[in-house]
Amino acid sequence: MQWNLCTRSRSPRSRAAHDITFNVRSALIGFTDDERPTRGARWPRAPSCSMLAASPAQRSSMSDTKPAASADPPKPMPFAIMRNSHEALRASIRLQEQKLEAADPAAFGEEWRLFRRALAVHMAMEDGAMFGLLDEVGAGAITSAKLPAEHVEDARLAAAVDAALEGADASALRAAWSAWKEEHLHHLAHEEEVMMPLTMKTAATPEARARVVHDRLLGPGESLPNFDWYIGWVVSMLSQHGSAAQPANVATRVFAWGLQHACSPSQWNRLRPIVRSNCPPAIWDELTSKFGLNGDGPIA
Ligand SMILES: [Fe+2]
Ligand SMILES: [Fe+2]
Repeated sequence: MQWNLCTRSRSPRSRAAHDITFNVRSALIGFTDDERPTRGARWPRAPSCSMLAASPAQRSSMSDTKPAASADPPKPMPFAIMRNSHEALRASIRLQEQKLEAADPAAFGEEWRLFRRALAVHMAMEDGAMFGLLDEVGAGAITSAKLPAEHVEDARLAAAVDAALEGADASALRAAWSAWKEEHLHHLAHEEEVMMPLTMKTAATPEARARVVHDRLLGPGESLPNFDWYIGWVVSMLSQHGSAAQPANVATRVFAWGLQHACSPSQWNRLRPIVRSNCPPAIWDELTSKFGLNGDGPIA
């Protein structure tokens, strides 16, 4: 299996390799309330192309991908409910590619439909709330970067995959999916590049940003169809597959801890069992014993 992040394409939607390297560095950094290297420590190096092509297990054994040690204790990052969702989406894309390479269109179709269901929630949260919030604090930076238009293009390319799934032509399905994948991976990285710095402008303190996430993202998000299912899907993907920069327990913790801190007590009472039931007991035990996820949501 090969990810195409490191290859240059003739498609106008492809971006130069330096964009990808820059964005992978951004992806490693995350939404930045948490796990900054301490003063004097180095940022983790952006992963190499061979690292991006490797499996999570292979990546974990590559010495240049180990995050820099930090003496600062991690802190909850409420905006991670958006950022680490990208890692769940990337994990599913990796599974989709595996199913296609195994010539198993039924298994691909199942993974694809789950992905599409989750992506619908994620994109609705962006279109309905996140983009507007960050345009407010970023002088229209989201609109200027044409992120909403990228959602429209993504839907067009995803519809072509849906259509190809209806047929029996495996090469047509692979071609449609590859075109969609190239655009989608670019979209995720582009959002991270544009959006992550803006999240820090939404409020001055982590506690105030938790309030912003509660009021502007979580509240509207909860009314979306499949929102609770989506939370479980993200936790399941992260706790099984981790991310390029984070092992499964860390990727899950960053998402779930951020979610808890954007919740009121009643919200977290509802969402906590969903998180718990979608991650392995060992990860849940760590979340509760070290990070207090069996406690309350703090938003009054
Ligand atoms: Fe998006
Ligand atoms: Fe996104």
